[in-house]
Amino acid sequence: MENAAPARIALFGASGRMGIELLRAARRRDDCVVVASLVRAASAWVGERVGLTFGEDAPDLEFQATLDPETEVDVIIDFSSPDSLETPLAMALQRRVAFVCGTTGLDSRHMAELQAAARHIPVLWSANFSLGVALLRKMTALAAAQLGPDFEAEILEVHHRAKRDAPSGTALALGMAIADARQHSFAEVARFARQGQGAGREAQEIGFAVMRAADVIGEHTVMFASEGERLELTHRASSRSIFAVGAVRSATWLARQGAGWYDITDVLG
Ligand SMILES: NC(=O)c1ccc[n+]([C@@H]2O[C@H](COP(=O)([O-])OP(=O)(O)OC[C@H]3O[C@@H](n4cnc5c(N)ncnc54)[C@H](OP(=O)(O)O)[C@@H]3O)[C@@H](O)[C@H]2O)c1
Repeated sequence: MENAAPARIALFGASGRMGIELLRAARRRDDCVVVASLVRAASAWVGERVGLTFGEDAPDLEFQATLDPETEVDVIIDFSSPDSLETPLAMALQRRVAFVCGTTGLDSRHMAELQAAARHIPVLWSANFSLGVALLRKMTALAAAQLGPDFEAEILEVHHRAKRDAPSGTALALGMAIADARQHSFAEVARFARQGQGAGREAQEIGFAVMRAADVIGEHTVMFASEGERLELTHRASSRSIFAVGAVRSATWLARQGAGWYDITDVLG
């Protein structure tokens, strides 16, 4: 929306690694402004100037444990922990404002709470706020549908040595996009390991390959191969700041939507 007032953002988990990246990402846009930096009540940061962590040109704010009733807000962004989800979600519901959540490790109860909230406010949760990955997911679904089942789909992901889960949530989401586009059951076509004898490829399966090394932030390649040709779609992340850039862009977009459950690909239009 042109000439709209900047979206007023309250950040929850503002003292964390992502909180700081979100402050930086918001500062680079002129369609939003951070109006509150929220941390837990027991945090050592309560009452400290945001500039202490963010630098001299930080917004003129203090870290606060609660949202000041006088502070007007259009959207709350939460990158904290599953244990704390209730707090920012209750704030968003009480204010009837949009809620963007990037917290990972949420269980089915948390997801149900988010979906229930979406009946009253706009809600967008994503385990990966990279806009490039969002587009990769869209392009993967398109390629799977248009190339058809003659093109065999395989997914390769590479991450740093400390990553615990494998394949990555993003690789799984890409696989699900392929299965959905072909109207296959993901559980039936996903193939997570090939080793030893009898490890040939079944028709329709989606194979996953996983590499772990050093400090790789995240790479995903989706390959569609047929006799004589191969299409590869690759995304490489080289900075964690991309997640903050995507979350802030999502927040400015979500602040203008009605109540409902949104996907990050909706932000791309
Ligand atoms: N969706 C994505 O694209 C994406 C990308 C990166 C990370 N993430 C996720 O974002 C979340 C935060 O990551 P991070 O690296 O910023 O973590 P972090 O550095 O540990 O920061 C977590 C922040 O949340 C606050 N917090 C934690 N538990 C809380 C509670 N019970 N009540 C209130 N505040 C609480 C922390 O405050 P204290 O300092 O007071 O503990 C801190 O400000 C994680 O779930 C991570 O997996 C998602």
